[in-house]
Amino acid sequence: MGLFTTKIPKTEGSGLARHLNLLDVSFIGVGAIIGAGIFVITGQAAATTAGPAIVLSFLIGAVAIGITALIYAEMSSIYPVSGSAYNYTYATLGEFFAWLVGWNLLLEYGVATSAVATGWSGYFRTFIETNFHLHLPTALSGAYNPAAGTYVDISAFLVIAVIFTLLAIGIKESARVNNIVVYIKIVVLSIFVIFGLQHFDIENIRNFFPFGWQGVWHATSLIIFAYLGFDAISTVAEETKDPTKTIPKALMLSLAFSTMFFILVSFTLTSMVSYKELEVPHALAFAMMRVDEPFIASIIALGAVLTITTVMLVMGLGFTRVAFALSRDGFLPKKLCEINPRTNTPFKLTLYGGLFLAFLAGFVPLKVLAELVNIGTLFAYFIVAVAIIILRRKGLVGSFRVPMFWVLIPLNFALLIFIMAGLEAHTWIRFAIWSGIGIGIYFLMRHRLPTT
Ligand code: ALA
Repeated sequence: MGLFTTKIPKTEGSGLARHLNLLDVSFIGVGAIIGAGIFVITGQAAATTAGPAIVLSFLIGAVAIGITALIYAEMSSIYPVSGSAYNYTYATLGEFFAWLVGWNLLLEYGVATSAVATGWSGYFRTFIETNFHLHLPTALSGAYNPAAGTYVDISAFLVIAVIFTLLAIGIKESARVNNIVVYIKIVVLSIFVIFGLQHFDIENIRNFFPFGWQGVWHATSLIIFAYLGFDAISTVAEETKDPTKTIPKALMLSLAFSTMFFILVSFTLTSMVSYKELEVPHALAFAMMRVDEPFIASIIALGAVLTITTVMLVMGLGFTRVAFALSRDGFLPKKLCEINPRTNTPFKLTLYGGLFLAFLAGFVPLKVLAELVNIGTLFAYFIVAVAIIILRRKGLVGSFRVPMFWVLIPLNFALLIFIMAGLEAHTWIRFAIWSGIGIGIYFLMRHRLPTT
């Protein structure tokens, strides 16, 4: 077995059950995409890096991620398997790069789940304090930091525990909860746009580029977080009916739908209040308060809490399915990928994984790690773009093909590099450390990998 030994993924007899249809899968996409990115990061990026031109950052992001989604669509129509990019890479670039992509996907899904839980807990505490006058003791309301008197973020810990329990119970149940919340998400964001546009004030967008194009560029690197997660769709391929057709369609639908909301919401936000005021963690609710719509503001705040929950649900799902594929191939202990016959889920993996991420969310301040999520994910997207070229050269054809291949693929490389280059140097250093640890684990584990 060599570093570049490839492996064609097989899915027969995996034990996962095919319960999901096009609506479920598209909603899983929207569940993962629309979340903390639009509710939290957009306001901060508008205030500090782009101003009203944040809309352009979302457009650039949409083109880059749109092409990546086309690539995922073609890949998933050839290999409809739960490991997603990890398996695509294994089939084309071989074992070493596959592990590196799998390692980065664990980072994306795992750390994003925990980081988003920490954000969720902030909104949740504000919500119970303002509406029910309930205050959690300081010791239980933040990550481990004795100097500040906080020891554990108990709500972040518990919400992950609840989410992973749901994931362990079953994919059907998880999809049902996700579907309901996605409907709420759509209603809440529509309300924001409809009420917000009534307060449109041209003065707020007159200075459209306060930080120039450079600001638009850096903002793109930040808000790209809002688009991440669409790829979680491809991790449920083994649980989807007719996956070679359903997954590509769901990828396109969910991304197009979310992009429309990102553009509408970011335009509404920066045209109703001055971008200068938006450096707050709850920008959408804040803007409604600012224009004297307190009732709408509280609907938005509640909507944010619910919305961020589905991001955790779907990112948690992606985490367990990538870990499942890694364990099936021997990179993680084989026992973990056993499927519970009653729930049809990787039960042990979900419970242990949930516990691990709950600890991360409860005890570790994840702000810094969250930045790593962007770079790690963009790296995985980059490798998948290389992989698709190799697949085409091998002559493999799926039911979906990227149109204008030799125009879009180079454009995709250019945009991904452009966006990654917009991230700060310290993020790159941490990324190198994370990848170094991954490479170390690979060389430790490699002799244990099965030879078939
Ligand atoms: N796209 C997800 C969010 O914005 C990660 O929360």
